[in-house]
Amino acid sequence: KGDSGLSEVNLMKKQVSDLEGQLRALQASFSKYQKVAAFPGGRIVGNKVFVTSGYEGTFDDLKQKCLQAGGQLAAPKNAAENTAVQQIVVQHNKSVFLGVTDIQTEGKFRYLNGDAIVYSNWLQGEPNNEKGRENCVEVYVNGKWNDRACGEKRLILCEF
Ligand code: IPD
Ligand code: CA
Repeated sequence: KGDSGLSEVNLMKKQVSDLEGQLRALQASFSKYQKVAAFPGGRIVGNKVFVTSGYEGTFDDLKQKCLQAGGQLAAPKNAAENTAVQQIVVQHNKSVFLGVTDIQTEGKFRYLNGDAIVYSNWLQGEPNNEKGRENCVEVYVNGKWNDRACGEKRLILCEF
């Protein structure tokens, strides 16, 4: 009994040390993944990674492509995330479409899952639904938001 108790402890020590090794390997590969995600134009904010492929298309097109990649259209939910989005817009000097629309109810902007937005950064005077045709949201190089026709072509920006 005494012996089997000892070997049980030794077995557990071995298991803990194996787990420690696996954790170190995981940390190393995660640290490498973060660098990959941030290169050359990706931005990491907390657990969120914003990435563009450089592709430009209509809102539906961009939404589909982000979903296909296992992400979704970028939807900054605070100032830090919006700054990350802005940096990518500046880097490419091209506006992006966000995963935010008022397609369901005019004037009520929602995420693609239907939730009401919790953060916005509208340019003064926006959203103005110009010509009654603007249900999507673009981000300018100054980080400000403008509602824009969803059929316009903008730079893709996905979040993962
Ligand atoms: C418009 C203006 C306007 C904005 C609209 C845009 P355009 O640009 O920038 O301020 O509210 O969303 O469509 O169409 O006159 O080049
Ligand atoms: Ca507008």
